Amino acid sequence: CFSHEIHLCSLIFPHFHINDEWPGYSLDLFSYPAHYSGDLDCVIVPHGVIMDRTERLARNIMDDLGDHDIVVLCVLKGGYQFCADLVDRIKVLSCNSNQTIPMRVHFIRLKSYLNDQSTEDLHIVGADDLSFLAGKNVLIVEGIVGTGKTMETLLKHVEAFRPKMIKVAGLLVKRVQNRSTCVPDFVGFEIPNRFVVGYALDYNEYFRDLNHICVISESGKKKYKI
Ligand code: IMP
Repeated sequence: CFSHEIHLCSLIFPHFHINDEWPGYSLDLFSYPAHYSGDLDCVIVPHGVIMDRTERLARNIMDDLGDHDIVVLCVLKGGYQFCADLVDRIKVLSCNSNQTIPMRVHFIRLKSYLNDQSTEDLHIVGADDLSFLAGKNVLIVEGIVGTGKTMETLLKHVEAFRPKMIKVAGLLVKRVQNRSTCVPDFVGFEIPNRFVVGYALDYNEYFRDLNHICVISESGKKKYKI
C-alpha cells in the first residue's frame, strides 16, 4: 500500500474491475472528435462513468481523511483532468455536508513514456522545492498507474520532504505483470493492460482532447509515433 500513515486509520474501498475479456463500447455509441476517427479501437470508460466514479472517490477520500487538511499534489500532465474533477467533487462535499477538508493544490510534472513504452528515465520536470510538504497530509493524484515504477520514484522523492502522511489516488490502475506491489489507496478503475488515451491521458501528447478513456488502435499508434 502507498499509505505512509501515522495518525489516521485507513478504510478499504471496493475496486471497479474491468475484465480482460471486456471488448469495450463501440465508438459509434458516443461522440468524439472527428480528427481521431480511425485512431481508436473502443471506448473503455465513457466520460459520464468517469464522473460518477470520481464522485464516489471524493466521498471515500472524505470518509478516510476526515477533517484533516490536505495538500493535493497533481501529477501532470496526465492527471490534470482527474485532479480538477476530483477536487471539484471534494469541494461540493465540503459545502454540502458537515465534513470539510481544507485543500491546497500543487502541481508536479513527470515524464517517463515514449510512444507506448515506459522508459527507465523518469524526469521530474521543473520540480521546485517541496519543503512546504513537511508535516503535511499529502494526496498524490495520478491519472494512470502501470508498472508502478513512476509512482515508486515519485513517492521516494516526496517522502524526502517528510510529510506527515502520503495517500495516492489513481484514476486507472493497469493489470500488468511484475507490477510493483504498490496499489493506490483510492483507485477509480482497474483495467486490462492495454494502452489507453483520453481524459488527459496521451500518446505522444495526442488525445488529451478526448473526453472518454479509449483504447488506441494500431493505426493510431503508427500515425502519432515519434
Ligand atoms: P508506470 O511507471 O509504468 O506505472 O507508468 C506510469 C506513467 O506512464 C503514467 O504516469 C503515465 O504517464 C504513463 N502511462 C502508463 N500507461 C499509460 C497508458 O495506457 N496511457 C497513457 N499513459 C500511460
